[in-house]
Amino acid sequence: MGKIIAISNQKGGVGKTTTAINLSSGLAQMNKKVLLVDFDSQGNASQGLLAITKQGQPTIYSVLLEDYPIEDAIVHKEAPNIDILPSSISLAGADLEMDKMEAGKEELLKRQLMKVRDQYDYIIIDCPPSLGLLNTNALTAADSVLIPVQCEYYALEGVTQLLLTIRLVQQLYNPHLKIEGILLTMFDIRTKLSVEVSQDVRQNFGKQVYQNSIPRNVKLSEAPSRGLSIFEYDITCNGAKAYAGLTQEFLKRNGGN
Ligand SMILES: Nc1ncnc2c1ncn2[C@@H]1O[C@H](COP(=O)(O)OP(=O)(O)O)[C@@H](O)[C@H]1O
Ligand SMILES: [Mg+2]
Repeated sequence: MGKIIAISNQKGGVGKTTTAINLSSGLAQMNKKVLLVDFDSQGNASQGLLAITKQGQPTIYSVLLEDYPIEDAIVHKEAPNIDILPSSISLAGADLEMDKMEAGKEELLKRQLMKVRDQYDYIIIDCPPSLGLLNTNALTAADSVLIPVQCEYYALEGVTQLLLTIRLVQQLYNPHLKIEGILLTMFDIRTKLSVEVSQDVRQNFGKQVYQNSIPRNVKLSEAPSRGLSIFEYDITCNGAKAYAGLTQEFLKRNGGN
């Protein structure tokens, strides 16, 4: 049964989508069967791997709120060997619509993912930059949360807030939810701030922080505009090496291979 991992941080621009795309691709390269769930109305993960999303294409919105079969909404991409459940701007109002529902509004995503879970080794959810009902749905569906932290001021405050939300979801909806790991992103060894924040995060969260951190690397920001993972775009760049290292560490933490 596939493990479900939410990539979450309520801050925008910390590297959630970049990590979702490239960890998914890294795992696929290691012959894991991966479903990448784009759960952000901006649709960056869908666009970043599929380049274009077709007009009128069924999305996660149709699955959650229009009873569209999840199997039919999932798109298969040959290279890398990944399945993607795309998103679109229609998801922007979804939390308001979901909020009107009576019971079980926190479990809508979970109920859908359960239908396809057996088909995958890993299901990676790219969360939106907020702590609303969509994020709660992702955390309720997930076995664990991977938290990307950008090496900048106030990084720790954001994480503390997210950890409180995680605790709340554990209490109310998902007692089994674990922390998968904390990932330092956009690390720049030349700046004192980056080094200080990284030391700070490692001091506070110890072994939960991945040894591998992701450097600031312009190739990582270029790859999505071609609809490519970093491994297809430039496998020799530092960004690709970092995400390959993260993939190895992730797999090791999950019992190897
Ligand atoms: N390690 C990195 N080096 C350089 N640019 C990055 C890196 N990680 C992300 N970016 C860029 O920073 C922006 C925000 O990243 P993104 O992954 O979309 O964050 P989030 O999903 O948390 O909002 C994007 O333009 C992305 O291409
Ligand atoms: Mg994003």
